[in-house]
Amino acid sequence: MEKIIENYALEGKLLDIHTYPDPVLTKVAEEVAPEEFNQELKELCKNMLYTMYHAPGIGLAAPQIGISKRIFVVDIDYDREETAEGSDEYTLSNFQPEVFINPVIKNKEGEITYQEGCLSLPGIYEDVKRFENIVVEYQNTDGEKLEMNADELLSICIQHENDHLDGIVFIDRLSGLKKSFFKKKLLKQKRLKS
Ligand code: NI
Repeated sequence: MEKIIENYALEGKLLDIHTYPDPVLTKVAEEVAPEEFNQELKELCKNMLYTMYHAPGIGLAAPQIGISKRIFVVDIDYDREETAEGSDEYTLSNFQPEVFINPVIKNKEGEITYQEGCLSLPGIYEDVKRFENIVVEYQNTDGEKLEMNADELLSICIQHENDHLDGIVFIDRLSGLKKSFFKKKLLKQKRLKS
């Protein structure tokens, strides 16, 4: 497991988060090739974490910042507090950043339902059914192969982010009726903004 790097949240570049119906969100992302494990990849992951912490969100996948590669970052543990009541400045602490490159979910067991949201689908929160326990194989930014057992929120978050790599957004996991309702709602939001 990668060491906790506290300055992940303090240094970095804010990346643009792409929102539905941006076509990058419905594409199957490409594997990160062995020669791509370099400084540029580390920089990208750092900026993804920075963007996630500042959004704020608990996970961010590369397609959400317009890069169709099999990479996502997760932190379900960090705290975010207003520096003063009513302030729009926040302090972040207790980081547990995780980077997953070329992840493959192996074992899937049990069932858990949780109200999910997504930085690419602003304003939508819905219950989604997922596997409760998973085992995920992945690589870190050094290209080392690792394996992690995840349950509860971490398991949900990994499955949500992994779906982004397959061009799936969480409303695709809802019933047909709900799915088309939310897709229409997002398209309307988009039209109103542009
Ligand atoms: Ni998402």
